Amino acid sequence: MNVLAIETSCDETAAAVINIDDGYKLNQTFDNFFPKTLSSVISSQIDIHAKYGGVVPEVASRAHLENINYVIDEALIQSQLAATVTDSFKKIDVIGVTHGPGLLGSLMVGVSYAKALAYGLNIPYVGVNHLEGHLLASFLDRNVPPALPALVLLVSGGHTILLNMTELGQYHLIAQTVDDAAGEAFDKIARYLDLGFPGGPAIDKAAQSGDQDKIRFPRAEIKNSLNLSFSGLKTAVIRYAKDNLDVSTDDISAGFQKAVVDMLITRMEASIKLYNPKTVIIGGGVAANSQLRQATESLANQYGLEAIIPLRKDCTDNAAMIGAVAGFRFVKDGPSEITDTVFSALPLNYANL
Ligand code: KG4
Ligand code: ZN
Repeated sequence: MNVLAIETSCDETAAAVINIDDGYKLNQTFDNFFPKTLSSVISSQIDIHAKYGGVVPEVASRAHLENINYVIDEALIQSQLAATVTDSFKKIDVIGVTHGPGLLGSLMVGVSYAKALAYGLNIPYVGVNHLEGHLLASFLDRNVPPALPALVLLVSGGHTILLNMTELGQYHLIAQTVDDAAGEAFDKIARYLDLGFPGGPAIDKAAQSGDQDKIRFPRAEIKNSLNLSFSGLKTAVIRYAKDNLDVSTDDISAGFQKAVVDMLITRMEASIKLYNPKTVIIGGGVAANSQLRQATESLANQYGLEAIIPLRKDCTDNAAMIGAVAGFRFVKDGPSEITDTVFSALPLNYANL
């Protein structure tokens, strides 16, 4: 089964072609779920938004409109399903598209395009939850399924969620942020320190030249809960930077990054003790962070667990991960209705813990 996937929830216009193994289609078992990336094309709008210091929604929607045709054609050509775009369309069985959460105008571009394509080609389309995409990015291009249950940390610009995944599609919420998402904190601190946009990669880079033990920023804890809070840390870093103009941004970045990673790793370690997972998975843009990747690997080693850390390019927004979910959801739940809409907020469906 070939899926053409489209992602336009924020500031990347992305399209991918994913092949879903027939074994999964026939048996619907997780052991046969091996989404394979035939192509994955991303047109980033970073340069357009950088001068504003963040994503401007209206500008993002217009850029998606300008880019989407080219990105989809390129994904089809690179998939090598056929020699031409027209012939490649004939080999597509399902269209998958992010329908939330995200910027409404941006989502609307991808979803309208997907619906029109599906209607024109007379094939089904599936609306995909972007968060489930970040989660299933770790399933792309593997030949063995991850051992379950898995402890999953999803950390992006909009979300910070810790889950116990017991089955493919069965997620139990362990903890989440009560205020800012981890990526949001990275972006806000980078903006304050004048490091540019997006903030995560800029802080990651600056921290490499800094001393992570020079400044110890507070690590918030919430009584009787593994939930996270980053707003106090953000205020503490900004206040410190204001009062200590002689301290380098590299040292401040290193101290801030260490505090974020420590907060995430302590929650993961507590969850390992509570839920005995076999695997630890991270996903979302912040999972591209060097220190978080290393710390997750060490934590998993310490407890004898497998760590599944997607390639950096699969952590940030892309359409390959959306194709993996579309394939899985199409077989499990069937197609979406042509009347379906877009959602600025869309929680993952959690089962009870
Ligand atoms: O998943 P993503 O591409 O978009 C959302 O769904 O939000 O995540 C974007 C977020 C941004 O906040 C960005 O600063 C952060 O991921 N990010 C990083 C790194 N690369 C991207 N944060 C820390 N370190 C990185 N290397
Ligand atoms: Zn994302």
